[in-house]
Amino acid sequence: MSTYRLHPIDETSRARLAEQGLTLSLVDGLDDSESGVARYDAWTQADGRGFYLDRAADDALAFHRAGVGDRRTTGVWDDATPATLEPVATINSWPTELSVPGGRTTTGWAISSVTVAPTHTRRGIARSLLEAELRTASALGAPVAILTVSESTLYGRYGFGPAVLATDWVIESRRARPLRRRTEAGRVEFISLKDFRSEVAALHERVRAERPGEIAVWASRWDQIAGLAPAQEAEAKKLRAVRYLDADGVVQGVVIYTVSGGEQDFTEHRVDVKYLLDATPAASAALWGFVVELDLVREVTARLRSVDEPLRWMLADFRAAKVSTIEHEYVRVLDVVAAFEARGYSAAGSLAFEVTDPHGFADGTWLVEADAAGTATVRAVDEAPAGVPLLSLGVPELSSLYLGGVSAATLAAAGRVHERTPGDAVAADALLRSPVPPHLSVWY
Ligand SMILES: CC(C)(COP(=O)(O)OP(=O)(O)OC[C@H]1O[C@@H](n2cnc3c(N)ncnc32)[C@H](O)[C@@H]1OP(=O)(O)O)[C@@H](O)C(=O)NCCC(=O)NCCS
Repeated sequence: MSTYRLHPIDETSRARLAEQGLTLSLVDGLDDSESGVARYDAWTQADGRGFYLDRAADDALAFHRAGVGDRRTTGVWDDATPATLEPVATINSWPTELSVPGGRTTTGWAISSVTVAPTHTRRGIARSLLEAELRTASALGAPVAILTVSESTLYGRYGFGPAVLATDWVIESRRARPLRRRTEAGRVEFISLKDFRSEVAALHERVRAERPGEIAVWASRWDQIAGLAPAQEAEAKKLRAVRYLDADGVVQGVVIYTVSGGEQDFTEHRVDVKYLLDATPAASAALWGFVVELDLVREVTARLRSVDEPLRWMLADFRAAKVSTIEHEYVRVLDVVAAFEARGYSAAGSLAFEVTDPHGFADGTWLVEADAAGTATVRAVDEAPAGVPLLSLGVPELSSLYLGGVSAATLAAAGRVHERTPGDAVAADALLRSPVPPHLSVWY
């Protein structure tokens, strides 16, 4: 997949957009000629405009180019305004390691920066871009495409299904503390934002394979989380970073947070946890204990936590936290054999899927046979063998099941999956569910 960046543009979408006087074209973010840089920077400005960001200054443009200029970058230009450098639509993509159940990884075709200028919406431009991405990813052999979303309703039509849920937390500190937690002979200490930046990246690399849904986070995203990117100066002044070291002095967790409020009443501060990563239960207990037990704080908020966040069970009062669930990471299965052979299984057994995929990639009947080691062989069959649990479902539902965090029984109860025989979904879950609930700790 090394040539993915400049792999030729999808002809079907190019022709469809050309009929409307629109040009679909690649942008080379590594072209450092004056015109190449100007073209890429104009693409970045259009991307930022789509998400209502401030217009980027020169340092922010350079940061963006250095950070994500190596992705496959695509834009759409309106032929009616040939002098305008800024495209009317943007998208980018890159193959990344995606953690899947069983401590394994596969390649996910990550898609980001999907924007269409408000002057050009609702005429099928996003559809052309997304379908081009899926065809390109499939042609280059990606087992699945993946993305995070601004709105839930956008991507089901292209076969994406929510596969990773996340929880957002509002914790009433006074009711929550003291946390019920075991204490170990580790310690917490403040660190600089720069140290946080390098330690969080290293720790994430250490643990991500064990956490289905996580991806290989790119360097400039860590800069942004640490408040070290251009235009973050004001925010960075508010950020505090802390690490947890175990008894052997090994870093096992980090947290970065802000404290605000308290102007009228000093006891009414609010803590916002921007990112907390723990590699061990002791690190989780120590870092949550640290933020929830800060003096003069009324409320702690945190986002994108796992659905299985152990903090719930540490609170002095179970009702001290309000937890809401969102769908966070979406998966789109493109190659059923490659995708389902890449992941691990929780039990030995067989299972069949009868998949409807209007785009064709995953359409058909597929037999999954997992052995006792949790490794499966997958093949297309004309018909599911008798006696094997069989689920009939659309590709969004198949994709939701992929990371083992969504229950087939739940989808069957919701009418989203059809069982050949009652009990087939429960049998499927025995194979598919991951003991570690999928979690994705960043946006992309
Ligand atoms: C969302 C966005 C990319 C859609 O672009 P677009 O070119 O108008 O979309 P299309 O005309 O190709 O529409 C494709 C389908 O999506 C639907 N759709 C488009 N925008 C939608 C929205 N905001 N909510 C729900 N459905 C939407 C259309 O009805 C159409 O449905 P259909 O093909 O089933 O009939 C564009 O509105 C945008 O840039 N929004 C701001 C940035 C953003 O949210 N990007 C998504 C990041 S994850």
